[in-house]
Amino acid sequence: MADESAKGILGRLPPLPRPALNNSVIGMEQAYRQRKGLPLLSDADIEALKAGQPMAWEVGGGAPATPVAAAPAPPAATPVAATPVAAAAASGNISAEVAGWVAKGNKWSKSTIAAEQARRLRKELPALNDFEIAALLGEAPAAAAPVAAAPVAAAPVAAAPVAASANISAEVAGWVAQGKKWSKSTIAAEQARRGRKGLPALNDSEVAALLGEPAATAPAAAAPVAAAAAPRAAAPAMASSAAASVARSGESTTYVGTPAVGTSKAAAAGGVASIGPEDNEINRARRRLVWATVAAFLTAWLLAFFRFFLPRTLFEPATSFKIGYPEEYGLGVDTKFQQKYRIWVDRTPDRIFVIYARCTHLGCTPDWKPSENKFKCPCHGSGYDSEGVNFEGPAPRPMDRAHIETSPDGQILVDVSRLYQWPKGQPSQFNDDGAFLRA
Ligand code: FES
Repeated sequence: MADESAKGILGRLPPLPRPALNNSVIGMEQAYRQRKGLPLLSDADIEALKAGQPMAWEVGGGAPATPVAAAPAPPAATPVAATPVAAAAASGNISAEVAGWVAKGNKWSKSTIAAEQARRLRKELPALNDFEIAALLGEAPAAAAPVAAAPVAAAPVAAAPVAASANISAEVAGWVAQGKKWSKSTIAAEQARRGRKGLPALNDSEVAALLGEPAATAPAAAAPVAAAAAPRAAAPAMASSAAASVARSGESTTYVGTPAVGTSKAAAAGGVASIGPEDNEINRARRRLVWATVAAFLTAWLLAFFRFFLPRTLFEPATSFKIGYPEEYGLGVDTKFQQKYRIWVDRTPDRIFVIYARCTHLGCTPDWKPSENKFKCPCHGSGYDSEGVNFEGPAPRPMDRAHIETSPDGQILVDVSRLYQWPKGQPSQFNDDGAFLRA
């Protein structure tokens, strides 16, 4: 029986002498005690465990931490109930779950609280209230004092509608009474200031009042009444009230601590994160600009996409063309169409033919040398006589001749897509029909 009593007091804590325990071990011990229904370790116990010292009741200097020890003191006199957090828990402002977390001694960061708020939102659990947030942040006394000690009824503006709500401090009620509507960024800045000064954050009712949302104050005003009657039982009602506010206006009612101004947390604290920017002319202009940019981009992209399916056409000169009347050409080589059609018109005493100006070696365009009466290729020196027949250089054969005929209007019609050749060692095509016109 003595062993059982000792187990009830110590839980799973090692007996004395005991080394210093870290937060993790103490947290597991608290969780164990919570599961087993044992009294939780008080703040003093936790500090003693961290220091590796015996707990006060272990050396007879304080009340035992458990009723199993048959202590005469009632539960209300235990060290847990004597702490500010325990007092808040006893008053119903802090749930047993949060009180357990606080009793573990772990100080929560604002981001951890934000994650917990998000989890509660997903699970449709009541959000952490100001007392719970302050307790988890290690600011329990500061969180509880001003709000409770400064009821709106005591404020000079008690007659104002906003001041009728017990959830709104006198300071905030005074601001609201001035008739100045706050923006969300201003509220976020105020939340940040309160965080820096260690003041309690603005609650939902205060935020709604400062935003000038009278509809939001109505349910908030009703909630404290219920909370006063049954503190913890009122929590779901407050949560449902907040949920109704969310459903009605789409605003976030969970804000976490006092984050820095300009951060997303600050926006969340000001109720900005879930409701988006205000619907004013500047924001509408911004949205129009964004959508116009997106539309322009998509239009350009679509045009490029459809252009991809169109053929890439290379526009080249026509291969069939007229070059004037036969009478316009005298004896010899005429070079006036060399640049435009890459041809020379050559007239002999008995015929007119058209030489296609392409060297038969590797395709360069030879030059006509009237002083030498020959064509000379600048690339490798091939030489052709005035009728385009090769006589020097690497050219293997005479230059080709284009098809030529007389059009119905009497002009000379040339077609460079039909060429006549004289391959080396083979019969010449230069006397074929179409290779020349009789002069
Ligand atoms: S290309 Fe004309 S001589 Fe070689």
